[in-house]
Amino acid sequence: MDSYEETHETWNRMAKLYEEVFMDLDIYNASYDQFCELIGTEEAAILEIGCGPGNITKYLSKQQPSYKILTTDVAPNMIALAQKNVPNATFKILDIRQLHTLKKLFHGVIIGFALPYISKEDTIQLFKNVYEKLYSEGILYISFVAGNYKDSGFIIGSSGDRSYFYYHHIDAITEALLSQGFIIKRHLEVPYKKRNDTTEIHTILILQK
Ligand SMILES: C[S@@+](CC[C@H](N)C(=O)[O-])C[C@H]1O[C@@H](n2cnc3c(N)ncnc32)[C@H](O)[C@@H]1O
Repeated sequence: MDSYEETHETWNRMAKLYEEVFMDLDIYNASYDQFCELIGTEEAAILEIGCGPGNITKYLSKQQPSYKILTTDVAPNMIALAQKNVPNATFKILDIRQLHTLKKLFHGVIIGFALPYISKEDTIQLFKNVYEKLYSEGILYISFVAGNYKDSGFIIGSSGDRSYFYYHHIDAITEALLSQGFIIKRHLEVPYKKRNDTTEIHTILILQK
């Protein structure tokens, strides 16, 4: 099994636990509001990638009931939870690396903390694919844990399940986005208190095509 497969299986097994801990976390809500403000259009077509139990889609559809949201994740159990949590969205099991297979265009694409589970090569390809799937002036939201790529590796949960976690260097991410043609509209850093009482900085970039 390669590291991607193992990571995807871990997420599938951890779906319920993730929902219990993160479904109602509100520390990123202000950044979702900024994403919506930049989109502007009321009946916007939105794509969420790596949706988990649907926490972001749930927030967006509450704030902007007219959005038409396609909500995707690689883990079937995450999609099942998201369907239960936000019945009015549309759902699809989709690996982030298969984005090019979607036929539609979107006014906004939101990717909350899925970048930590793809390599830098796949991240560069992702930005190319997202660019092609956005309407002119469409908005992209990404969040990730900035750090040294060399520190990436397997992390082991309390259950013994492993997932491969990628740290992405902020300069490498920024350069890949700019060379793709994106314009940076917002750069936010949100402190996140971990269970062991240390604080991790979560980086959010909101960009325009
Ligand atoms: C940390 S959770 C984030 C959930 C939610 N977006 C949030 O911000 O709270 C990461 C999610 O990315 C999904 N994921 C990991 N690798 C993926 C891939 N290759 N394609 C699509 N989703 C992936 C996992 O299944 C999981 O639901």
